Amino acid sequence: MGFSIGQLEELLPELQEISDPALREGVLKAWALALERGGWQVSDLGKIPFTLLIPTGTSLLEHTRRVTRMARAVARERENVNLDYIIAGGLLHDVGKLLEYERRDGKVQKSRSGELVRHPVSGYALVLEAGLPLEVAHIVLAHSSEGEKVKRTPEAIIIHHCDFIDFEIAKGKESG
Ligand SMILES: [Fe+2]
Repeated sequence: MGFSIGQLEELLPELQEISDPALREGVLKAWALALERGGWQVSDLGKIPFTLLIPTGTSLLEHTRRVTRMARAVARERENVNLDYIIAGGLLHDVGKLLEYERRDGKVQKSRSGELVRHPVSGYALVLEAGLPLEVAHIVLAHSSEGEKVKRTPEAIIIHHCDFIDFEIAKGKESG
């Protein structure tokens, strides 16, 4: 591993809001696994675009943190929503993009792995491999169109919408 868990922890300050230490550790583990498998460095996280669908200056790291904070704000206004799952799910919803993308010819592009398996599915697998509960893996799996095939939990509904708010606004900016 070409980086320390401490470095990763510093980039994701929202982690500190997860009350369950095992959950916090699992989130870090899933990110570490994804970095390692995708061949990325921690310092790449601020440079990988959050989407390849539109030109964007927003990094995967910024998007991840923003969606997490937006979801946290929504969750605080609701009863019966698990805040730990919201923070963990927000921080992990796009972790599979580290496998979906690769740097080729100096450019971030879709990888072969990404052509075969979309990031909600590869992210789901990483999250389970990191030992996190199915409720968190479900948020990752269901945050995008894959979620239309299952019944989203309240936490997954919140992450799904916050993710699309960020994406739609970025899209709107691009098209003027
Ligand atoms: Fe996504």
